[in-house]
Amino acid sequence: MALGGSLPLGRFVQLIGREELETMFWLILLAAGALSAQTDPASISRGGQTFATSCTESACHGTGGAAGKAPRLLSRSLSRERLGRVIRDGIPNTTMPGFQSRLKEPEIEDLVDYVVSLNQEPAEASASKPAGFEGPEQARRGRAQFFEADGPARCGTCHRIARQGTAVGPDLARLARLSPRALVTAILASRTQYVVELKLRDNTSFPAMKVSQDSQAMEVFDLSATPPVSRRVNRTEVAAMVDNVNWKHPPGAAGLTSEQLADIIAYIRFAAYGDKAGVKLADVE
Ligand code: HEC
Repeated sequence: MALGGSLPLGRFVQLIGREELETMFWLILLAAGALSAQTDPASISRGGQTFATSCTESACHGTGGAAGKAPRLLSRSLSRERLGRVIRDGIPNTTMPGFQSRLKEPEIEDLVDYVVSLNQEPAEASASKPAGFEGPEQARRGRAQFFEADGPARCGTCHRIARQGTAVGPDLARLARLSPRALVTAILASRTQYVVELKLRDNTSFPAMKVSQDSQAMEVFDLSATPPVSRRVNRTEVAAMVDNVNWKHPPGAAGLTSEQLADIIAYIRFAAYGDKAGVKLADVE
């Protein structure tokens, strides 16, 4: 494959375009359909998280890939071994990248379990799709926007609340008791507090949100991809970590109306502490 192992996944994805990557994954998903296996549910769920952050290249699909575009081209079946190999090494001369250097071995195994499991449940059961909701109408509207993957807000692609969404950005439940106006300011802010620009020795750089680190490597979310992808970066690869100036919190440019902001904040409050009073327009304007 022409791609060096050092090419950041985010850049890679930008280079090849999301449709092609999406197509490759769909081919794998479809091919995996012929398989059935007894699998540990915990492994499937871990694999689902990895899939959501590392594989799903359109926010439209979440972890379940409900709205795939690729036709059912393949009817040949892939063994678990083959699936693992494809994920590790990629497919030569195609846009399917190898993930061996990007994911840890147990993560790849979980991913195989997850991909296999996808074909044992209906696409509707996508984990990114919020389940039934009992709450006030305003919070319900806010929740739909929060998790709507291709809407203007799509907070859930980066924030996790009520056990849904992906925790790229800070935990919002902890801020839920701020005044609505303070939250609006934080949501629309153009400056960031936690995001850094990570410069690598290969002269690439990307905006990153740190997840964890050990003596050898850092786990980060690469915010140059939409939705952000999880990456493990070896300390030896890092040249510098500097202030972020390029990455902007997406809602700042999403043109959200006051109504939408009020609804979203009403949902955050409801999800965090069961607030049912709602948020008035006057409180966010
Ligand atoms: C592409 C990912 C992404 C999306 C989409 C996104 N956020 Fe964020 N959000 C982040 C990151 C990363 C930060 C941390 C920014 C920083 O460094 O200060 C953040 C910060 C915040 C903060 C400030 C948190 C703090 O501790 O100061 C709030 C509030 C917030 N987001 C709410 C939202 C809401 C509400 C939405 C949807 C309307 C949303 N975000 C959409 C990634 C995202």
